[in-house]
Amino acid sequence: MCGIVGYVGNKKATPILINGLVCLEYRGYDSAGIAVLENNKVVVKKDKGRVNNLNSLEGIDTLEGTIGIAHTRWATHGKPSKENSHPHMDNSENFAVVHNGIIENYNELRQFLMEKGYTFLSQTDTEVIPNLIHYYFHNGVHIHEDKFLSAVKAATDDLKGSYAIEVISPMFPDKAIVVRKDSPLVIGKAEGENFIASDIPAILSYTKNFYLLDDKEFAVIYKDAIHFFDDSLIEHNKPVKNIEWDAASVGKDGFEDFMLKEIFEQPNSIRETIGSRFRLGEPCSFDDLEISKEYLSTINKIYIVACGTAMHAGLVGKIALEKLCKIPVTVDIASEFRYRDPLIDNKTLCIYISQSGETADTIAALKLAKSKGAKTLAISNVIGSSITREADYSIYTHAGPEIAVASTKAYTSQVVLLSILAMHFAEILNSVTPEEIEKLKSDILDLPTKIETILENTAEIEEFAKKVYTQKDMFFLGRGVDQTVALEGSLKLKEISYIHSEAYAAGELKHGPIALIENDVTVIGIMTDSSLVEKSISNLQEVITRGAKTLVVTNQVLPNAHFDFVVTIPETNPLISPILSVVPLQLLSYYISKNKGLDVDKPRNLAKSVTVE
Ligand code: F6R
Repeated sequence: MCGIVGYVGNKKATPILINGLVCLEYRGYDSAGIAVLENNKVVVKKDKGRVNNLNSLEGIDTLEGTIGIAHTRWATHGKPSKENSHPHMDNSENFAVVHNGIIENYNELRQFLMEKGYTFLSQTDTEVIPNLIHYYFHNGVHIHEDKFLSAVKAATDDLKGSYAIEVISPMFPDKAIVVRKDSPLVIGKAEGENFIASDIPAILSYTKNFYLLDDKEFAVIYKDAIHFFDDSLIEHNKPVKNIEWDAASVGKDGFEDFMLKEIFEQPNSIRETIGSRFRLGEPCSFDDLEISKEYLSTINKIYIVACGTAMHAGLVGKIALEKLCKIPVTVDIASEFRYRDPLIDNKTLCIYISQSGETADTIAALKLAKSKGAKTLAISNVIGSSITREADYSIYTHAGPEIAVASTKAYTSQVVLLSILAMHFAEILNSVTPEEIEKLKSDILDLPTKIETILENTAEIEEFAKKVYTQKDMFFLGRGVDQTVALEGSLKLKEISYIHSEAYAAGELKHGPIALIENDVTVIGIMTDSSLVEKSISNLQEVITRGAKTLVVTNQVLPNAHFDFVVTIPETNPLISPILSVVPLQLLSYYISKNKGLDVDKPRNLAKSVTVE
């Protein structure tokens, strides 16, 4: 959702900016643009459509400037158009700005500026920012000797909402200024050149040394120096972080799409998530988490809060935490939790799951719990992401960068990590027998090999996808833990194939949805719990009788069933079975999307990182 790139150095900025935008394409966007300092002017090239279109804009190939900013826009205020694309300039064309986030009071600010004689070319909230900078540059009180920095600070003081902003000015041809609040921004440091981006993969091929900007922190970036300032413009030092990911792990590695690559990476991403967190015969240990028995014993309720797929991982985690720790767990959608005054106090532990660590609703939900005195624990895939900086405790999935918009390997790693967390808490609380935990540990350690077995034979799923890709509606049914996978399978399908689908607890079928079952409707049943399999078979029989086409994902030997397709997966502990049963469903969505000729990695209307409400 909106991407930002910037460059301050000795090289031609344009190719670096465009290359960075290409790396951010996965976040979702509808327009793109760049601004480069060139012969005492700012030159802006922008348009709606793909980043690649920028290369054909007149004059872009002759830009020589070595300082520039760039942006991919995901429309919020104003439709996708050239005028609404970033960068935006003030009326005097002295300040060019790109912005990620939403300025909630932009109408009020626009009114204020119009009364001062400013005019506007776009419908965006962003265009107030360069004009405010211009206004304060000429009319403000300059609290720092750097007039440019003072004006940016004064302008941001007026903004309500979220922002990551880059500003350049031909009056100051050696630097860029950046600031952020509730929107991500990182600065990459290299020899004689510095980079700016919304996230690390966009500039990982240039450097591994990063600064993660804090909320309301300013940075003035030169080619050979970076100065950091707090919200009062007092300068401070900031430690540089070395990031271990390599650029190769952000490439497609010979796979046709990132999503397929990420599905196939799951055996390895799960191994990474397990890491050294446990071994057979030894208690679980988290280097990054120190939770005492005293504290854990006071906890009488756990909330798991997240959005989308991460929330579905939470639904699986709930089952493991309740079973092993005997503490009641409520799973909530972050956008609901944050506005419904949940009953939490210092005896509540709130767990937040976010692959990106930048999801606006999840971060807001975490801040709410903190303000009510609860301890907060973040589970994220991105080291140093906003959510991990807000939480009392943070643990990482270590799944590696996930580029495809539809989440796959992050989900399975989140479920693995929640299971390890549940075992860790259970060991601290002594709430189940060591044998029970030891068995689960061994089952978790077997997961990567079992996923490899599923991935070795995708032919059946490909064949089924060919048969059903023209369908308009599909249903996913499951009981117990399989119901959580049904939800995730259905979400994956919607996201990348645009087929309408619903997920139900199989027992709910008769209470309404069965009215929708008619000839040739596709129903996918997930049956991995031996204690519930007979009941699920009965539910599937009911839809077969009404003409449905069925695919069943199971680890059981099914008696006398008349399903069209059966995908058999290895057996495992029911607490973690979604990690296996989700894989055929991920593949099914993938192959259906491919059959329809859709863009699997960048589905329409969706963004990888939902940084606004
Ligand atoms: C679906 C998907 C989304 C995300 C959701 C939360 O495939 O990726 O539903 O799970 O937007 O994102 P994070 O985990 O980054 O907070």
